[in-house]
Amino acid sequence: MSNAATPTFDSKVFRSVFGHLPTGVVVITSTSESNEPLGITIGSFVSISLEPPLAGFFIGRSSRTWPLIAARGTFTANVLSAAQTELCWRFAKDATDGSRFTGLQLETSANGSPVLVDAVVTVDCTVLTTNAVGDHDLVVGAVTDLQVRNTSQPSMVFYKGKTGDARIDS
Ligand SMILES: Cc1cc2nc3c(=O)[nH]c(=O)nc-3n(C[C@H](O)[C@H](O)[C@H](O)COP(=O)(O)O)c2cc1C
Repeated sequence: MSNAATPTFDSKVFRSVFGHLPTGVVVITSTSESNEPLGITIGSFVSISLEPPLAGFFIGRSSRTWPLIAARGTFTANVLSAAQTELCWRFAKDATDGSRFTGLQLETSANGSPVLVDAVVTVDCTVLTTNAVGDHDLVVGAVTDLQVRNTSQPSMVFYKGKTGDARIDS
């Protein structure tokens, strides 16, 4: 692969342009080796392959939570509903002591990860590969379980730095 071309723009422009691309929002959850709940807000979660079923996301290499999830080797993607804006920001703020889960009602997924009650759907994965790409790692997971949990609210959409909803079918 050739080296990336020297950019003619700064990272602020990069962020602002990509802010026009709407994404879904998930909280990737798992547990540490001492069974503390772990979670990170992620906008890059995407399905990758049908046969075999694979899904993945990009995680910044400065993430403090990801190495703990990688050590477990399994995670659950909790797709947030439009009514879960507080959780979107809560799991994106700095916290390394499990306090992101304070006061939350939780269930447990098939692979043992915490499930955020009222997530729209959940996707359980076992980490298959992680590859460095620029300043992020591409995490690819083998999908081991899928659950539709709460469709009473539309899924969350993140757009131009704000949360909204994906109510395009009503
Ligand atoms: C809507 C939204 C989407 C995000 N998407 C990503 C993402 O795809 N990859 C990533 O590394 N960080 C993403 N972040 C930032 C992380 O949530 C944030 O850096 C978090 O503090 C990381 O926590 P950690 O250091 O405990 O791992 C996103 C944040 C928000 C609000």
